[in-house]
Amino acid sequence: MPSESADTTKRAEWSRYGFVLAAIGSAVGLGNIWRFPYVVGENGGGAFLVPYIVSFFCFGIPLMVLEFTVGRGFRGSVVTAFGRLHPRLRHLGLLPFVMTLVVFSYYSVIAGWTLAYIIFSVTGYMDFETFTSSPLPRVTFFATILLAGAVVKVDLKAGIERANRYLMPVLGVALLIMLVQALTLPGVQAGLAYYLTPDLSALSDPAIWVQAAGQVFFSLSIGFGVLLTYGSYLSDSASIPRSAAVIAGVDFLVALVAGFIIFPIVFSFGFDPVSGPQLAFITLPQIFSTMAFGSFFGTIFFILLFVGAISSILSMVEGGVATMVDEWAWPREKATIFICTLAALIGLPSALSYAGYDLILFGAPFLDNVDLLFGTLLVPVSASMICLAFSWLWKPESLLTEVNKNSRFKFSRTAVYYLRYIVPLLLLVTLASTVVRTFL
Ligand code: PHE
Ligand code: NA
Repeated sequence: MPSESADTTKRAEWSRYGFVLAAIGSAVGLGNIWRFPYVVGENGGGAFLVPYIVSFFCFGIPLMVLEFTVGRGFRGSVVTAFGRLHPRLRHLGLLPFVMTLVVFSYYSVIAGWTLAYIIFSVTGYMDFETFTSSPLPRVTFFATILLAGAVVKVDLKAGIERANRYLMPVLGVALLIMLVQALTLPGVQAGLAYYLTPDLSALSDPAIWVQAAGQVFFSLSIGFGVLLTYGSYLSDSASIPRSAAVIAGVDFLVALVAGFIIFPIVFSFGFDPVSGPQLAFITLPQIFSTMAFGSFFGTIFFILLFVGAISSILSMVEGGVATMVDEWAWPREKATIFICTLAALIGLPSALSYAGYDLILFGAPFLDNVDLLFGTLLVPVSASMICLAFSWLWKPESLLTEVNKNSRFKFSRTAVYYLRYIVPLLLLVTLASTVVRTFL
């Protein structure tokens, strides 16, 4: 039952820069600092940047702009926006809602690991398997959810916006310290060569295009409705195209820079670049425990990961909370407790899946499976739904008025046709290839 009360009380609004900071907080996360570098390394090095940049411009930025525009235009979170577009489409919003909830749950498990590792970088590292089998990761998992909930339950401005005003500068400084440290290590070239030497033959492999598209979605937080939700608090005076350019640009830069940090460190100490949890939680700790001032740099590195993660988690919590508030007129605090409790329950199998309990499904830990389904396979499905519904059923004049409001750059009707035909086609191809790649 859509509630009218959300309309009678004025909706919260970001203050100046608050929106851009919070959206950067959402975008920049484990996807950039941890996942991007090894995906590049494994997929043709520098050559991977070609499909990445192509996907980034062909549907990354357009879909980000669309989500912000829909959010501001319909002044509601994703379920509400679908419902206001057409009452019968309301339930479509449940897909991004559920996806976000599940991603929130397992992302918090990894964020919890980074939280524990901040402490370990001072006290000395625990062996990863000993750590995951101990009760500690469950503690830091719940602590992460609790912390995110404590921020989100307060008002938008005093909660999420204020937190990001502190977190984003910390992230920037930590990133800079790590970059300078990595680039002044001996033997930087070997790391950079591995990271960026283009293997052009990789470009003919469709798998690399699929990987690139998936990485763009996850990194920009597209298809989850969280950008849409953040957009619903955006003031009419803000320029959506300009904000999106800044947010996407920063996300790209941070991902690129992360590779300039990870690979010089790994190669300078003679280690092999590995992927997955191993890189951040086994290889790097080994290096930090031998390098000069290693406990300092280890602390900074894991703070960087945790800050990136928690600011992304805030947007995931808000996606869920805003839905309860908009749809059921729940008080913010009650909604936050509900969403966080739900995520803590849903996340339990993920929190146990590296704990030696053999929660193995299809040959992989539970966490990897939910990541594959909710963080990868369903993303183009959900993104196509948003794209198709709002480009076809929302009056083009209304869409264009909304996106061009207070913007110097003006989109024309071509943009609407681009969203109606080209983007869904590209997404269909991506989806089909992902399915083929995963299951055949
Ligand atoms: N974009 C975030 C990252 O790169 C992850 C994220 C996914 C955030 C989905 C919100 C929603 O880590
Ligand atoms: Na990102």
